[in-house]
Amino acid sequence: MNNRIKISSSLLGCDLSNIQAEVRRVEQAGTDWLHFDVMDGVFVPNLSFGLPVQQALNKVATVPIDTHLMIVDPIRYIEDFAKAGSDLITFHVESTKEPEKVIEKIHSCGVKAGISIKPVTPVGVISDLIPMVDMVLIMTVEPGFGGQGFIHETLKKVRMVREIADRLNKDIYVEVDGGINDKTAVECKNAGADVFVSGTYIFNAKDTAAAIKSIRGQ
Ligand code: DX5
Ligand code: ZN
Repeated sequence: MNNRIKISSSLLGCDLSNIQAEVRRVEQAGTDWLHFDVMDGVFVPNLSFGLPVQQALNKVATVPIDTHLMIVDPIRYIEDFAKAGSDLITFHVESTKEPEKVIEKIHSCGVKAGISIKPVTPVGVISDLIPMVDMVLIMTVEPGFGGQGFIHETLKKVRMVREIADRLNKDIYVEVDGGINDKTAVECKNAGADVFVSGTYIFNAKDTAAAIKSIRGQ
C-alpha cells in the first residue's frame, strides 16, 4: 500500500503574493499533488480562497489539484470546482445532511471523491460511506488554520479507517492534514495513511525537495 505515497502541498502555507512561483517550487521539488483549501467563514472560522483562485491555479498547475472544501452545503459548488480543474474533491461529513448525494455529484462530474472528518468526529459517522469514496481525509488538526500542532489522538482513527477499507477489500487513499512534518508523517504512515498534506513544513523549508522527501520517508 505504501508504495503509492502521495505528498499534497497545501497552498495555504505558500507565499500568496507569488502563487505561480510557489507552485513551480513544489512541483520541481517533487510534490505529487497541490492541496487547495476552501474556507467559507461559516463551516470554519476563517476565509481562504475560492473558485477564481482555483481557476487561476488550474492554468499553471502541472500536477493534480486536491480540493479540500471546508464549506457548508458543499453540493452547491461541486460542479464549479470540477470545471475549475479539481482532480479530487473532499468535503466534510459534518457540512451536509446528504453526504451520499455529494459523493454521487462529485463522481458524476468525473472527479474522485473524498470525505473528511474533524478531530472530534468518530469514524463510525462515515463507515457506511467508505465503500463509496476514493479517499478518506482524517483531519489531524481542527480545520481552519495552517501552522497548528498535530493531534496525536487522531492516529487511532487513521488506523480504524485503514482497517475498515482492508476488510472491505477497498483500495482507498487515507489522507492526513494538519501539523504534518517528517516526524508526524512516520506515525501517520505506520497507522496506514498514504496521502500527506503539508503546508507550513514544506513551504517554510529552505530545501523544499528535502522536506518533501523527508515526509515520504526517504
Ligand atoms: C487546515 C487545512 C490544511 C492546512 C495544513 O484547515 O486544511 O490543509 O493548510 O497546514 P499545516 O501543514 O501548516 O498544518
Ligand atoms: Zn486541507
